[in-house]
Amino acid sequence: MSTSTSVFHLANRLDRVGFSDIVKIRNKIMELRAGGAQVFQFEGGEPFSNTPGHIKEAMREALAENKTRYAPSSGIAELRSAIADKLRKKNDVQASSDDVIILNGGMQGLFGAFQSVVNPGEEVLVFSPYWTPIRDLIAHCEGVPVLVPTDEARQNGFTSTLESQLSKQTRAIYFNTPQNPTGVVFTRAEAKEVAEFARNHDLIVIADEAYEDLIYEGEHFSIASLEGMFERTITCFTFSKSYSMTGWRLGYAVAAEPWMTGLKKTLLYSTNGVSTPTQWAGIAALTVQSTFLEESLEAYRKRRDLLLAGLNELGLKCSSPAGAFYAFPDVTMLSHDSREAADILLQRARVATVPGIVFGAHGEGHLRFSFSTSLETIESALESLRKNL
Ligand SMILES: Cc1ncc(COP(=O)(O)O)c(C=O)c1O
Repeated sequence: MSTSTSVFHLANRLDRVGFSDIVKIRNKIMELRAGGAQVFQFEGGEPFSNTPGHIKEAMREALAENKTRYAPSSGIAELRSAIADKLRKKNDVQASSDDVIILNGGMQGLFGAFQSVVNPGEEVLVFSPYWTPIRDLIAHCEGVPVLVPTDEARQNGFTSTLESQLSKQTRAIYFNTPQNPTGVVFTRAEAKEVAEFARNHDLIVIADEAYEDLIYEGEHFSIASLEGMFERTITCFTFSKSYSMTGWRLGYAVAAEPWMTGLKKTLLYSTNGVSTPTQWAGIAALTVQSTFLEESLEAYRKRRDLLLAGLNELGLKCSSPAGAFYAFPDVTMLSHDSREAADILLQRARVATVPGIVFGAHGEGHLRFSFSTSLETIESALESLRKNL
């Protein structure tokens, strides 16, 4: 049988979809480790603590009770109802169970949201630096990310900064708060300005609130809670960061029609729902009385303060992140090329970070440090930086 090599290519829609640079960094770390070096890891994006016991116990119970069959594709009614309740009380978003869909992590929500909104050739305004996969999620729709510098918007005003990037093709705004990688928490006034812009230009907002529980300064504010915004916003949440549940792959989105139909279709024909026992564990996360969120926040705050003081003392200027668990210092004193700066830290001090350029052009000159690690690791890494930089 003869085969032509020309058939062995991916469908075009995957052409511009990339892979994470972080994988390359992990490979370098593994190489160093294999050579016997101790590496202080700050490149990750995971909570440092384990999933709380009561959540794991709920999973065990669900298994013992044989809650192991297909659930409704959009999620079990009890979890959707608990989430709608949480959205009304905590986020001031007036959702009912019908507006909630259970998904495999924040990522599946974002995937479904972009797929539901963006047509080929349409543009999405993305505050930058931005979480890297957003570019790929937009590319998967054959859409175009248009970067809006967050610093400039905060200094010069959101309306004029967004307006300067607006075109006839603009379809949506990606609004992530607290932000990865900068830790910026948008204020209520800023959210109002973005919302007004979206309404005035008839844009859809894809909100990403993955770090809603990690707020050190200010408040978490959901843009969908503003008047006239519920119908034009798809908000994606996850259990990953709040409840140390990254590996469980549990998240949810809240949206009105027609977006909910889009989310349902993308879910149905990809994973056809989320693992049933995992959803029962999700109910425990939301409904069992626990001090886990408060205790975690204080633990993160300690780590943030320790790392921030150390970085600033070293001359790696860093403003204090108001949310999430990342510090994003200016490292131009080492190199203006953030890949080179990351390499210097890794080779000289065995400190692994992510080059800012990975998060878009506005991240250049910075490194992302996750402070979601032990206090001892932060102390030892700072000591190594002091000695070796
Ligand atoms: C900004 C942001 N949104 C969404 C997610 C998705 O998280 P997950 O798919 O683990 O729920 C992440 C994870 O790193 C993130 O940083």
